[in-house]
Amino acid sequence: MRKITVIGVGYVGLVTAACFSDLGNQVIALDVDENRVAGLKRGEMPIYEPGLEELVKRNVAAGRLSFTTSYKDALQDSEFVFICVGTPSGSDGEADLKYVAAAARSIAQNMTAPLVVINKSTVPVGTGDWVAEIVREAQPTPIEFWVVSCPEFLREGVAIADFMNPHRTVLGSTSREAADKVAQLHLTLRAPIVITDLRTAEMIKYASNAFLATKISFINEIADICERLGADVKEVAAGMGFDARIGKQFLEAGLGYGGSCFPKDVKALAFMGDEMGVDTRILNSVMEVNSARRNAIVQKLDEMLGGLQGKTIGLLGLAFKANTDDMRDAPSIDIAATLQAAGATVRGYDPVAMDVARGVMPGVQMAKDAYALAEGVDAVLVATEWNEFKNLDLARVRDSMKQPVLLDGRNIYQPDIMRNLGFSYYGVGRGNAEGAKTKIRAHVNGN
Ligand code: NAD
Ligand code: UGA
Repeated sequence: MRKITVIGVGYVGLVTAACFSDLGNQVIALDVDENRVAGLKRGEMPIYEPGLEELVKRNVAAGRLSFTTSYKDALQDSEFVFICVGTPSGSDGEADLKYVAAAARSIAQNMTAPLVVINKSTVPVGTGDWVAEIVREAQPTPIEFWVVSCPEFLREGVAIADFMNPHRTVLGSTSREAADKVAQLHLTLRAPIVITDLRTAEMIKYASNAFLATKISFINEIADICERLGADVKEVAAGMGFDARIGKQFLEAGLGYGGSCFPKDVKALAFMGDEMGVDTRILNSVMEVNSARRNAIVQKLDEMLGGLQGKTIGLLGLAFKANTDDMRDAPSIDIAATLQAAGATVRGYDPVAMDVARGVMPGVQMAKDAYALAEGVDAVLVATEWNEFKNLDLARVRDSMKQPVLLDGRNIYQPDIMRNLGFSYYGVGRGNAEGAKTKIRAHVNGN
């Protein structure tokens, strides 16, 4: 049993603390947010993540997991400290490292024995060296420590499964001994362990997120072409995915990527490239394609409704993806604001994110369920792919709407079934064969 400290009890920190304690370690998790810590002590989760509450409660009951706001208590007898604080976008798109710097200083001021300082936050290349400098300078008396980069690759909504079954563990350090010690903590996860230098480990994280974001922008561009040429992007993606070099995942076309990670990480990587004089054309295009998705769906709505002024639109799903309450950079926020600016009234429903959404979507009326959302609206727009939306009584939804216009921003329904049900249905990238034939003929004739 190892003694581990986790700094930050957000999506990454709380999952890390709960999972490491479940693996039999003694874990103490710290946050500067007193409300979060007080809530956790009462058994209340600060975030929604499937399975997390049960995991936390089980390990607290077993005496392996506890919470504190005191760095002194948190670092007592600890061998490892994981930094899991936020690294939001700064004003120019760079990662803002103020929370990382504050955590590093507090660690330095409160450590009493040699310590491995492990950075799990997503941080710009070079941050590990900088954290080492901060710790060295802030220590009242010199005590040995080692900095290791251990980027996290979990996804919200399936965070526990991702943590427990990683594709790989990446460790970067100037000290092979320290990296090996951290590797020991991860052996039980039975995933390949990549041990490298600090900067390379930090870059692996950004390059991974940027690559996944690129896949999403790529398939969204393909979706636009499919739509005009009469092909179905869902089937195109499935057909591509059988090729192991391409893979099946991250080829869902729709409203583009949102959330607390891809938007800020692609931006931060482009910023790093720019600073080094690299022309980051691919990353810039990925961002451009992505941000255009949100306006494009509003334009489609405008077209289908013959104007937005005075119309009422129901947003089915608000979170940036299913199985989370995270509203950070959720496409629904921009879509609602654009609709409101065009004179529409916006209603919203989400199975778990409505409390958080209320704070970031001013003027959006929250409905008690999907059926209440549909009552009397001019159109419903599916903004999050929650499972419960896949099994709605769609005839009931259709009958309660003012007009049966349904825009499926996440392609959760079958176009033919929806049209047979009498909906005026739009799915992203799900082309219409008739339009395509005309275009191909025109092309041949044109030659
Ligand atoms: P979060 O905002 O959910 O949580 C961060 C927590 O850190 C908050 O509770 C905050 O109060 C606390 N904090 C801030 N400053 C602190 C300090 N000085 N001392 C102690 N606690 C402090 O953030 P998150 O989503 O968990 O992300 C954390 C990091 O992990 C980011 O760098 C992010 O890019 C990265 N990451 C996130 C995910 C994800 O799915 N959310 C996945 C992989 C990596
Ligand atoms: C993402 C990565 O998947 C994680 O590996 C990484 O650890 C994390 O970022 C991070 O660095 O913080 P997450 O943001 O939780 O995880 O969610 P994803 O499932 O990756 O989805 C991100 C966004 O892309 C969502 O808005 C989702 O709707 C969108 N998406 C995803 C698509 O539009 N199409 C897809 O095919 C996949």
